Amino acid sequence: MRLTPDQQAMLDGQYGYAVRKAMEILAALGEIYGAEDMVPISSVQIAGVSYDNLGEAGLSFLAEMAAGGGQVRVLTTLNPAGMDVDNWQALGIDPDFAAQQQRVINAFARMGVITTCTCTPYLSGNLPLYGQHIAWAESSAVCYANSVLGARTNREGGPSALAAALTGFTPAYGLHLPANRRPTLTVQVEVPLNSPADFGALGRCIGEQIEATGQKHIPYITGVAAASLEELKSFCASLATYGGAALFHMAGVTPEAALFQPPPTGFSVAQTALDAARHALSDADAAEVDFVSLGCPHLTIAEIARLAQLLAGKQVKKTFWITTSRPVKHLADRMGYTRIIEASGATFAVDTCCVVAPIKGRFTALATDSAKACYYACSKNKMKTLFLPFDEVVAEALR
Ligand code: F3S
Repeated sequence: MRLTPDQQAMLDGQYGYAVRKAMEILAALGEIYGAEDMVPISSVQIAGVSYDNLGEAGLSFLAEMAAGGGQVRVLTTLNPAGMDVDNWQALGIDPDFAAQQQRVINAFARMGVITTCTCTPYLSGNLPLYGQHIAWAESSAVCYANSVLGARTNREGGPSALAAALTGFTPAYGLHLPANRRPTLTVQVEVPLNSPADFGALGRCIGEQIEATGQKHIPYITGVAAASLEELKSFCASLATYGGAALFHMAGVTPEAALFQPPPTGFSVAQTALDAARHALSDADAAEVDFVSLGCPHLTIAEIARLAQLLAGKQVKKTFWITTSRPVKHLADRMGYTRIIEASGATFAVDTCCVVAPIKGRFTALATDSAKACYYACSKNKMKTLFLPFDEVVAEALR
C-alpha cells in the first residue's frame, strides 16, 4: 500500500505511540483488503463503548492509547454506553459497573472524542455530506450514512474507527470505492409499509434472504413509495442486523439509487413474507412482558413528542425505558415532553439502550418496536420478545 510521507511518519512513530499504533492497525487492514492507499476522512463514529462489551481488556487498550498521546484529528462521536451517564442509579446499574463505564468514557474524552453516546450521530452534530469519506462503526449508523446520506464508509470495528480518528485516514477499499457501491440484486417490495416497525420487519425479511445466498449483496429496492427518517432508521438497523448489509439503494428514496439500473436478478417481498418476518420477531405472550423499551436506534424528537401524547395523564405498569441521545432529551425537556413522560412512570435511559446496558437476567420478556432490539434481546440478554408497532408498545406498557 502506498503511504504519503506524512502517513509513513505516523507509522514510524514520529507522532508518538498512539498514532503509530493507530497507523499500524490501518496499514494492516489495508494490506488484508488490498487497499492501494489511504483516503482522508471527515468524521468517525466509534462503537464498542459499553463496559459490558469492552471489559477490562478493551478499557486497557483505550487507556493505553490515551496515555500514548492519542488525539482525534477529525470530528469523532461515540456510540451508546452501558448506562445513562447522569442518571445510572435510576436504571439499577451496579456502582462498580458505573465506575468502570465512566473510566471508558473519560478515556475517550481525553482523546478529544465527543462523548455523544448515541447510535444516531446524524441527529447529534455528526452529519456527513454526500460523497464524503468517513470511518464509522455501529452497523445501523453505517447503513444509514452509506445509504440515506450517500457518505462512504466501511463497517468499522471499535479499534479501526479509533485508529482512523487518531490519524484522519482510512484505507481505501470496500465501500470507499465507487465500483463497490453498485447494487447486486433487485428486491421488489410488493406490500404497503406503514410504520418504522413495518420497515424493521422488511429489513429482517430482506436481510435473511440475502444471508441465505451466502454472499454479500447490495440490494436495489423498488416499490417503496416513500420513507420517513424514523422508518429508514429502523430499516437500516434491521437490514444490518439480519443481513450484514452496510449499503442499500432504494428507488426514489436514497440518493445513489438514481445512478444505477436495477440488477436483472433478485427477489420480491410479498405480504406473506413480511407477515412471517414480523411473526418471527415475537416469541413472548403479552402476559410475559415485564420490560418495555422504545429507542433502538435512539428516538428522534418526533417520536418522543408522539410518546408524550400517548402517555399524557396515564400510568405505566411495567418497567419502560425511553432510550435517546442527550441532545434530543434536552429538546424533550424544553418542550415539556420529559415531564409528561416521567409523570407516567416511564424512565429516560439516555446515553444507553436496552441492548448495551448490563441487564441480562433482570427481565423475562421485552416489548419493543425494534427488529434489531429483538435480535439482541434474545441473543445477548436471553429475553423473550414481543414485536409491536410503536403505539401498541406504549399500550403494552400501560396494560
Ligand atoms: Fe442503538 Fe442500542 Fe439499538 S446502540 S441501534 S439502540 S442496539
